[in-house]
Amino acid sequence: MADKLNILAMCGSLRKASFNRMLMNASIALAPEGMSIKEGPSYLMPIYNADDQNSTGFPPESDALAAAIRASDGLLIVSPEYNWSIPAGLKNAIDWLSRYKEVPFAGKPVAIQSAAGGLLGGSRMQYHLRQSLTPLDAYLFGRPEVIVTFAPQKFKEGKLEDQGANDLIKQQLAGFEKFARKMVGK
Ligand SMILES: Cc1cc2nc3c(=O)[nH]c(=O)nc-3n(C[C@H](O)[C@H](O)[C@H](O)COP(=O)(O)O)c2cc1C
Repeated sequence: MADKLNILAMCGSLRKASFNRMLMNASIALAPEGMSIKEGPSYLMPIYNADDQNSTGFPPESDALAAAIRASDGLLIVSPEYNWSIPAGLKNAIDWLSRYKEVPFAGKPVAIQSAAGGLLGGSRMQYHLRQSLTPLDAYLFGRPEVIVTFAPQKFKEGKLEDQGANDLIKQQLAGFEKFARKMVGK
């Protein structure tokens, strides 16, 4: 049996009753045997300012997240879409992380999921995230995509009750495991 892949999860919503957090938790529970998914350290940090970086360096939150990403075999990012794009907190962390000489995302396989109340399920955020992580040399997993539409109808008491969505998560994670093993040679 191959060594387990250690995947770091990040949730782009800070809301207590976040559907994306429920989706992330569903994925943690549905991870294939060869994969362990754990939530990473907080990505909350001061708004990026190059002057701050030049005067006081990286914030400790950024160093901790960078170290956790470097120690992982890949990432699962689960996030809502805010105004057709990436929520600011998550994007701000990506901006800080992009400033290290050795960018922590480089060479890391990344899978993306989203949940939203509407018909598009956060899909536009997914494409903006792909765009932002591409210049950072992340390896973006293609398909199946996990896009949970009409989220309030699919989650009950904190659990993802939709069979189709649960099946899709399993398919995505199985495909992601194969992809990530190829990319990191594990
Ligand atoms: C600031 C803000 C912007 C939003 N913009 C979008 C959007 O562009 N597209 C969308 O599908 N939903 C949008 N929504 C609705 C979110 O999809 C919905 O609130 C979702 O439940 C947020 O995810 P969460 O439950 O994980 O917090 C927005 C919500 C907020 C608070």
